[in-house]
Amino acid sequence: MMSAQTDKGKRRRGVGDFVKGGAPIVGLTAYTAPIAHLLDPHVDFLLVGDSLGMVVYGFENTLPVTVEMMIAHGAAVMRASSQALVVVDLPFGSYQESPEQAFRAAARIMAESGCAAVKLEGGAEMAATVRFLSERGVPVMGHVGLMPQAVNVAGGFKVQGRSQQQAQRVAADAAAIAEAGAFSLVIEGTVEPVARAITQAVAIPTVGIGASPMCDGQILVTDDVLGLFTQFKPRFVKRYAELAAIITSAAAEYAADVRARRFPAPEHCFGTK
Ligand code: KIV
Repeated sequence: MMSAQTDKGKRRRGVGDFVKGGAPIVGLTAYTAPIAHLLDPHVDFLLVGDSLGMVVYGFENTLPVTVEMMIAHGAAVMRASSQALVVVDLPFGSYQESPEQAFRAAARIMAESGCAAVKLEGGAEMAATVRFLSERGVPVMGHVGLMPQAVNVAGGFKVQGRSQQQAQRVAADAAAIAEAGAFSLVIEGTVEPVARAITQAVAIPTVGIGASPMCDGQILVTDDVLGLFTQFKPRFVKRYAELAAIITSAAAEYAADVRARRFPAPEHCFGTK
């Protein structure tokens, strides 16, 4: 059973800790060392998501993210954490071509970042790749429903499963990825009854984001949770802090102090009493 609290201070979690029917699995995204350090004691897993393309780099979507970016951020998160399982996203274009291409990208990300698992987006069409990786020592977290890397074929970031046809497709995708050997499955932006039914149907734990409280776990983008990413707020996000306002007022206060020569004060200078 996963429990960040009871295992606190012990070994780093592994994919074997992802079990169905235990305490809800807690995940958050992390892209940098300071944030990973703060989140690590509280979560079961840290996802170095390719959402960093939008959140950290200011891209319009996740498509420009590279393997090199994922390795750099994955390694930073690994250095700053000791308890959470760290999962790193395979970025767009690094795995869709063939299982062999996916293996090369995953092996490089695991070897160079030190992470213990990767996540990839895709349904039935990616099942052979998930099997290929899982059978060769690469633990895979699947990702179905709203798949941000498919933004251009989906015509935007659209909630999935509203029509019966869509609901059947997401369910079939989930079943294919679970049967192919993924150790867990993110269900993103999917109507609640469909996400709930998938959770009941598949043998692996599901992790919801904009999905269902009945998923085996939940993940959110940390910058959304902290009120740092304010361009838009999806309905499924709950803000637990409003850090943008705090940062804005701190920056304004600092600027006013510098302009008024209130900073630096004597206690911030060397050789003054
Ligand atoms: O990239 C990401 O942060 C993700 C989560 C939204 C699940 O895939």
